[in-house]
Amino acid sequence: MSEVIWGLATSHVPSIGAAMDRGLTSDPVWAPLFEGYAPARTWLADKTPDVAILIYNDHANGIDLDIVPTFAIGTAERYRVADEGFGRRPVPDVVGAPDLSFHLLQHLMDEGFDLTVFQELDVDHGFTVPLSVWTPDPGDAWPCPVVPILVNVIQYPQPTAARCYALGKALGRAIASFDGARTVGILGTGGMSHQLAGARAGFINPDFDAMFLDAIENDPEKLAALTREDYIRQAGSEGIELIMWLVMRGAMNERVRKVHAAYHVPASNTAAGLALFDNRVAQHA
Ligand code: DHB
Ligand code: FE
Repeated sequence: MSEVIWGLATSHVPSIGAAMDRGLTSDPVWAPLFEGYAPARTWLADKTPDVAILIYNDHANGIDLDIVPTFAIGTAERYRVADEGFGRRPVPDVVGAPDLSFHLLQHLMDEGFDLTVFQELDVDHGFTVPLSVWTPDPGDAWPCPVVPILVNVIQYPQPTAARCYALGKALGRAIASFDGARTVGILGTGGMSHQLAGARAGFINPDFDAMFLDAIENDPEKLAALTREDYIRQAGSEGIELIMWLVMRGAMNERVRKVHAAYHVPASNTAAGLALFDNRVAQHA
């Protein structure tokens, strides 16, 4: 038996990683964003899990746009940091957990989620920025092995929010039935509202983001009921990345406790959000 002990949802804006890599986190422009992360990092510091699962999307860096799997999982021993055109970020490669990957793959297949399998995968800012938000100074290695689960949010039609939430529920059952780890951290990444191109470039919707930050804790079914078009209309063409938070939430208990949340506008052209949940409230109640 393995247990999800916490869930961390965070935006993955590439300039957040660049600000860290360049030592700009105390710069007046960046300080408010990073101050918002501090309570989450402090709480997480003594809660390193045996393994983490990171729900993310690639942005045509690790995977060619000719083949875009709707859902996929990495089964590798190691994932290299992708070169997105400016050289690789100076952060460690990611150590995988193939035994957990194969367990999740089989369990999810048996539940009707036919995931594509990556035996080799370079991970881009969608993966490394959330790891940096969790662990700003990883040194030579991230705190634990990490299994990547990929969701297509970049090419229409993206999976529905309901399907992502259902995947999360199945993932939760798959984790619970895994004997190889005691504790698991789960990361849901991307968002919040943003649109990077087109007539609405720069679009941000703080009202939608506030609703989402509240409902992801207390009423995820409401978020799962929104259509992909609702997400694109209300959160922007890239704001639909938020459906990945629902995979994380689905894998957690019905009742969770929000440890900390932060919201900052803008990071780059994007509304950046963070939400940290303790999954062991029932136990501690
Ligand atoms: C930005 C946001 C993203 O989600 C992304 O994938 C790339 C860039 C941005 O705000 O700059
Ligand atoms: Fe993105």
